[in-house]
Amino acid sequence: MNKDTRKVFLKTFGCQMNFLDSEVVAGVLAGDGFELVDSPGKADVILFNGCSVRRHAEERVWGGLGAVKKLKAKNGKIKIGVLGCIAETHRDEILRRFPHVDLVVGPRRVKDIGIFLAEVINKGNRLLALGEDNTFLKDESFALRRSKTDAFVRIMVGCNNFCSYCIVPYLRGREKSRPSVDILREISALVAKGYQEVMLLGQNVNSYGKGLEENTDFAGLLEKAVKVSRLKRIRFMTPHPKDISSKLIKVIANEEKIVKHIHLPLQSGSDRILRLMKRGYSSGSYLRLVDRLRQAIPGVRFSTDIIVGFPQETREDFEKTHNLVKKIGFDNAFIFKYSARPPAASAKMKDDVPLSEKEERNQILLALYRRKGVKK
Ligand code: SAH
Ligand code: SF4
Ligand code: F3S
Repeated sequence: MNKDTRKVFLKTFGCQMNFLDSEVVAGVLAGDGFELVDSPGKADVILFNGCSVRRHAEERVWGGLGAVKKLKAKNGKIKIGVLGCIAETHRDEILRRFPHVDLVVGPRRVKDIGIFLAEVINKGNRLLALGEDNTFLKDESFALRRSKTDAFVRIMVGCNNFCSYCIVPYLRGREKSRPSVDILREISALVAKGYQEVMLLGQNVNSYGKGLEENTDFAGLLEKAVKVSRLKRIRFMTPHPKDISSKLIKVIANEEKIVKHIHLPLQSGSDRILRLMKRGYSSGSYLRLVDRLRQAIPGVRFSTDIIVGFPQETREDFEKTHNLVKKIGFDNAFIFKYSARPPAASAKMKDDVPLSEKEERNQILLALYRRKGVKK
């Protein structure tokens, strides 16, 4: 490698979608002749791709930016960028608050990172690239993926659900599905490279197909994907419990390649809180869905997401969650302490559960899984 080759350090936080975005960024930059390095100290370009879904997720990026400030003080040529959801949330405020940041790129613009970075490097400008870019790359198989055996595959972007606590729809825009031919071609290309497993990604995969010219839905996409020869396993993330169709249940049950593990975010077991969260299902309908899935798919396993300390969540509400979680017997649960995320709707409600109480509820749920972990 030429010693003039520019070196990039890229650190990612957040969900699978953000990690896939980083894999695309790494692929674009490798194509432009950049070399990826494993520490900011070795880099000419330092990029943080960050998440905004909870306050704690953001703090990790602010901390990272603080830590690299001295590198830039020593070498003014270093370029520093903030990418992803956190960029879309804090926008120009990032440039004001961190004078050493050169580049702020929202999640819907990161695929053009090569162009943005060239401008920052060649012209010395500070640059802000946010908002909509409503196009998909036809092919993301060039992405530099973290694994050689299993790959994330984007099937849609955005979200129309506007759960009251959630900032994602404001950052990733409205739901849009990727044409199935492009998805299937990409899966085939990945299999040709030696990949055995794909995880199909969308904020709510059950809405897949809406707005496409072709007449398809998520179950239809899965039916086509299982036909890709030599592909061994298919997973997907995330199905919304409010709209899992009977057709989808049948396809999961019938198709051997589809992994019998479903991540089904519950969020709360209290109907009052579920209504305030605008989740569109009740504890009863969630439970019935789990029963239907268990009947149709022998041995199916579930994992879930729970938020503790949503505004107005009483100890009684929490007990309902606790009991439902025990009753369902999830394989795994990701527990999050609520944090207000304006402009998400619940940020207008008083964040009235004390942090100590959120922590206690968090620990009570975590304990269910720790015990299980020890037994195994
Ligand atoms: N689209 C996915 C995941 C969204 S974010 C879905 O609908 O399931 C991942 C998880 O973060 C959510 O399931 C939720 O449990 C949690 N989360 C989102 N907003 C939050 C907030 N304001 N405070 C705490 N946890 C939150
Ligand atoms: Fe957020 Fe709800 Fe959309 Fe998931 S479905 S991304 S929790 S608004
Ligand atoms: Fe994912 Fe965080 Fe964005 S959860 S969609 S990276 S706000």
